[in-house]
Amino acid sequence: MRTQVGIVGAGPAGAMLAHLLARAGVDSVVVEARSREYVQERVRAGVLEHGSCDLMDAAGVGARMRREGLVHHGIELRFGGRGHRIDLSGLTGGRTIMIYPQREVVKDLTDARVAAGLPIFFEADEVRVAGLDGDRPKIDFRHADSAWRVECDFIAGCDGFHGVCRESIPPAALRVYERVYPFGWLGILAEVAPSSDELIYCSHERGFALHSMRTPALTRLYLQCDPNDAIENWPDDRIWRELHTRFAAAGDWRLAEGPIVQKGITPMRSFVVEPMRYGRLFLAGDAAHIVPPTGAKGLNLALADVKVLAAAIAEFYRSGRHDPLDNYSSACLRRVWKVQRFSWWMTSVLHRFPDETPFDWRRQQAELDYVTSSSAAAASLAENYVGLPLD
Ligand code: APR
Ligand code: PHB
Repeated sequence: MRTQVGIVGAGPAGAMLAHLLARAGVDSVVVEARSREYVQERVRAGVLEHGSCDLMDAAGVGARMRREGLVHHGIELRFGGRGHRIDLSGLTGGRTIMIYPQREVVKDLTDARVAAGLPIFFEADEVRVAGLDGDRPKIDFRHADSAWRVECDFIAGCDGFHGVCRESIPPAALRVYERVYPFGWLGILAEVAPSSDELIYCSHERGFALHSMRTPALTRLYLQCDPNDAIENWPDDRIWRELHTRFAAAGDWRLAEGPIVQKGITPMRSFVVEPMRYGRLFLAGDAAHIVPPTGAKGLNLALADVKVLAAAIAEFYRSGRHDPLDNYSSACLRRVWKVQRFSWWMTSVLHRFPDETPFDWRRQQAELDYVTSSSAAAASLAENYVGLPLD
């Protein structure tokens, strides 16, 4: 089959790109390795920046998010056993963040695609991209026991960190920047109302902890752990004990417990490839960059990339102009590196490092003290947390 844009992957990047292109009158075909149920159920991130919410609205898929999402105006930084609120809205001229699970974003976008009868292949096997440096790149795959070929003008590699698109670029054409952190996050989903109305980022001498949420009845909690630890070493009662220890605070605040319905350990890395383009292949989202989750930026970066890409592709079909496509990589990378810096900073200031010295610990505590007592420092955190401008 023939299309204008072949999209590999139906995570937030691929699903949003397909949607934005359709609204601009550009045809696309989406090829996704997993089943529709799998991509819609996968437990992932949960914080949308102000600009990501606006993009959901502008794409015409914001209605359920506006109904069911939880608007937050602040976050708490907890250290030395005391909580300190960062007034995100007050420090950013009224901007907010939205708690709305990534899987709901993907569900809204993929359901809209299916309902519109536009082509999306789930459970595609042996996905390959070829002809990237010619003018008719193609995606080959198997689906329901048949071989398929999609011939395209452009391919969008939205297939995540472990996808095939980035791997199909000759290594000499890419520069890779990477940092692997000496810790991971043990994450749980518990069926209990959140213990606080806002997210709590907690620095403790035993390691970082985070209190987040998915809905008014589902709490999401994380603990810094050894990245090579096995989840079998963490029975539920050990997880709760460790969470209670790290979140302990002056006053009568208590962390509420409930049945743990999901748990897992995720390693953490910072990763960027440059450029985000090779010939007619454009990389977007986790295929091009990974941030550690401490700043809650992965999903938002993916959406920001495809906003730029959709506009550049639409402009090409409207006027024949190439320059927005030629500028795609550098336009995205400017923002990507600022978000990398912020995610690295949040990670560095809140986690314990195996090789740190007592000096480093004191410096971290002083940095948290500074950020929560200086309005200039708090404003810098807040403007990054609610999201830098998308363009
Ligand atoms: N062929 C087709 N699809 C593939 C292939 C392949 N070879 N490999 C992976 N995929 C699919 C995955 O199944 C997934 O649905 O590509 C999609 C990539 O989605 P994500 O990993 O969610 O990446 P992205 O859309 O860039 O969104 C980034 O996801 O991992 C989180 O924290 C990250 O929130 C961030 C967001
Ligand atoms: C989440 O709810 O999963 C979450 C929230 C904030 C983060 C990371 C993850 O910084």
